[in-house]
Amino acid sequence: MSTDSTFLETEPGGARVRVWFDGTPLDLPEGANLAGALLVAGVSRFRDTPVSGAPRGPFCMMGACFDCLVEIDGVTRQACMTEVRDGLHISRAPSSEAWRDPE
Ligand code: FES
Repeated sequence: MSTDSTFLETEPGGARVRVWFDGTPLDLPEGANLAGALLVAGVSRFRDTPVSGAPRGPFCMMGACFDCLVEIDGVTRQACMTEVRDGLHISRAPSSEAWRDPE
């Protein structure tokens, strides 16, 4: 997959597995850091903030900021704390609308 990403893969040429991000198939390096692999693939918006709806993507890459939250197979997780595995179904974390109190 060709992307406009400014990020480069650190170990090109390894085994790749198929994952889906918001329904789009991506072939990512098996065992790679999911947040990094998605950035290389051109995915930069991982979630929206609950208050303003501003887009967020990986920031710290060490599990502290939670800006890399995505939903993986129905469970919200930190992408930077997850390895790429075959068959992952990933989507943006629940939108700001889903996090608001119903009034
Ligand atoms: S990038 Fe900060 S927690 Fe994942």
